[in-house]
Amino acid sequence: MSAKGYTASNELLDHFDPEFAAPVNIKKNWLQSDEHLNHVIFSDQFDRGLLEHLCKLASMVKELRSDKEGARNLKNLIFNQGAELYFTQSSTRTFKSFEKACHILGMETSVTRDTKLSSEYKGESVLDSIRMYSSYADILIIRSEIPKLAEAAAYLMNNLSQERQRNIPIINAGSGADEHPTQALLDMYTIYRNFEFASPDSPYELRKFEALAKKYPELGRKGPGPDNKVYGFCGDVGRGRTIRSLSTMLARNYENITMYFISPDHEKLKIPKELKTHLINQGVELHEVNDLASVAPELDTLYMTRIQHEHDNESDKKSIQGSDLEKCYLSEEILATMKKYARIMHPFPRNYEIPTEIDTDERVVYFRQARNGLWVRTALIAYLLRQDTRIMNIHADFSKESHNYNESMLRH
Ligand code: NCD
Repeated sequence: MSAKGYTASNELLDHFDPEFAAPVNIKKNWLQSDEHLNHVIFSDQFDRGLLEHLCKLASMVKELRSDKEGARNLKNLIFNQGAELYFTQSSTRTFKSFEKACHILGMETSVTRDTKLSSEYKGESVLDSIRMYSSYADILIIRSEIPKLAEAAAYLMNNLSQERQRNIPIINAGSGADEHPTQALLDMYTIYRNFEFASPDSPYELRKFEALAKKYPELGRKGPGPDNKVYGFCGDVGRGRTIRSLSTMLARNYENITMYFISPDHEKLKIPKELKTHLINQGVELHEVNDLASVAPELDTLYMTRIQHEHDNESDKKSIQGSDLEKCYLSEEILATMKKYARIMHPFPRNYEIPTEIDTDERVVYFRQARNGLWVRTALIAYLLRQDTRIMNIHADFSKESHNYNESMLRH
């Protein structure tokens, strides 16, 4: 799809055609300074160290938030800063969790959901609008159906920075059909928690994994964390941006990964060629199949997705309906064949691919996964606004105090 917007007023995006054409490895350097990310646009920007840092930070936020004093300390962090949520494409979880994440950090939020109510309706270019928002906010979170809009916004901020003008971090909260890096972050956090953290500096987490390993020796042999696991991505593999972002993140950072791409037999729904080549080049053992039942017993994690009908053109509508979609639906029968420790994930919204009857199965984690978005997105905003060390200090004091409290309770 063209990177140019869908209305004439978006022609300013043309400015960045040369930047769009650069390889991702070069672009990554433009989006960070001194190894610290300034903007979050692609899932490929995250290395293992940063992922584990954000996961630990997310757990600290979660713990602090459950305590009144801890929650108050978080709220005091950046109450003098504000976020603009520019969400002109439909969204429930991503929007709500980002809004709430800002509030957890005490930030004010301002929201744009419908450009008919802003000056874009009068022909203002989307990049002029973005520059305006950047004068009122301290971070800008963008979800749009315009492909590459968040990327263009990041380059605009970089140009402003070079001119020593006001500029702020940009977060891509889903752009066109290409990327959804913050969904991949919360998916990774969920995968870490499914198989317990592999952090050698946390004896507590290793003990938790040992308990799991005792119960499930096969999982014990595979080890903690995301490495050495078999992942199944099922549904609209061709057009689902969450699958693209998560599979890229897994392939880049973890060892001995097997991936099954399970999609109906339709050109638009199967894994795109460039993604397939990219994953194989990263060392992934990759298989493509058309029915879930045939591979379900192999999987450690099953990542279900809906068919993204909003991208259908007239001829797709008929051919997609005729392509045996049911073979990629999860049923109670298929679930019964899966490993006892396997985990079922879904970015949501769901349509027909998962029956509600299985929601109570202990392998199902999709509701927890959505809630994890809250902690990870709070951690990400804190990191971008360089508040992560402060959160770690608050958490260290909190742990010391609750430890002292527990000790004194034991003494009495
Ligand atoms: C996804 C998206 O928007 O890409 N939803 C989400 O953000 N959780 C998945 C989808 O729409 O199917």
